[in-house]
Amino acid sequence: MIQGKMRLTSTRTLAYYWGMEKSTNKKKRILTGDRPTGPLHIGHYVGSLANRVKLQDEYDCFFIIADYQVLTDHLSDTKLIEGNIREIVLDWLSVGLDPEKSTFFIQSRVPQIAELTMYFSMIVSIPEVQRNPTVKEEMKAAKIGNKEMSYGFLGYPISQAADILCVRADLVPAGEDQLPHIEHTREIARRFNRLFTPVFPEPKALLGSFPRLPGIDGQKMSKSRNNAIFLKDSPDEVKKKIMRAYTDPTRVHATDPGHLKGNIVFDYLDAFLTDKEELADWKKKYKKGQVGDVMVKNRLIEILSAFLAPIQERRKTFAAKPKMVSEIMQSGIARASREAETTLQKARGAMHMDYPSILSLK
Ligand code: TRP
Repeated sequence: MIQGKMRLTSTRTLAYYWGMEKSTNKKKRILTGDRPTGPLHIGHYVGSLANRVKLQDEYDCFFIIADYQVLTDHLSDTKLIEGNIREIVLDWLSVGLDPEKSTFFIQSRVPQIAELTMYFSMIVSIPEVQRNPTVKEEMKAAKIGNKEMSYGFLGYPISQAADILCVRADLVPAGEDQLPHIEHTREIARRFNRLFTPVFPEPKALLGSFPRLPGIDGQKMSKSRNNAIFLKDSPDEVKKKIMRAYTDPTRVHATDPGHLKGNIVFDYLDAFLTDKEELADWKKKYKKGQVGDVMVKNRLIEILSAFLAPIQERRKTFAAKPKMVSEIMQSGIARASREAETTLQKARGAMHMDYPSILSLK
């Protein structure tokens, strides 16, 4: 610890630590979140929600609902955003994200994010964003060429940097696809600090350990591909979907030896069957052709239903208390706004754009 402090020689680091002096005993800060494009699915659970539930005990967590980002490709149905925000909050609460420990907020309700995005947009070049592989990927997926691309779409990674930096987050838990954004956020923080005065930490990515769970057709799980199992799916829906799930295409009879690789049912068992002995047993039997697909699927349906039941129970409780949900969001937004205002005061000051001689006189 002492050694670490002695090594801090650059002005950036020293100033950063001076700035943090009062909070040295405080928990490190995390920011991550979701786009409100629909209810969350078991892929979200395995890939990020389960991890967030654990992280909130150790860190000061901020969870953002990124409604600006929905505008990048769902501009024609903005009336759906409100319902989707409600779904996400209910999903968060029902898996155990706890507003007593963590701060939930909505991106557009913290206007300092928009202000910070404006400042950042001046220190980022257009080609730099155009090179972002995730942006390229999303352009392809949404079938938008350079000509149709909106200014806001191209700029969303900059606004995401503002999401992260407005609360001066240290860590960003996220999937692989978010790494270019986090890398860019670090670059923006460095650039701002170098150009003006050190204000921002350089947040690090926190990659999840579980590989991404595929959809029931083996493709990336997503609402638009209609291949997702949602946290709110009823046992009947889960059953129907699992019965449709891809297994081993080379296997015709239950007595044929089966393959586990690329077999969705076993990917799901890997994620949800906690009894590892039972898991090994199913795998052994499947490979030897001693169990049929339907038998394995039935067991998976049982396991998933048992996993989802308490989540859905909690969801029902929260869904019946809209006033409580509203209060959770209002107080989260208030806290995020306070933090963001503190950050923006520093940023404006660093840029000499706080104008004390005009605005601070009484
Ligand atoms: N881009 C993220 C997604 O599509 C959502 C998001 C918005 C986010 N702001 C963020 C994630 C800040 C991490 C940090 O899922």
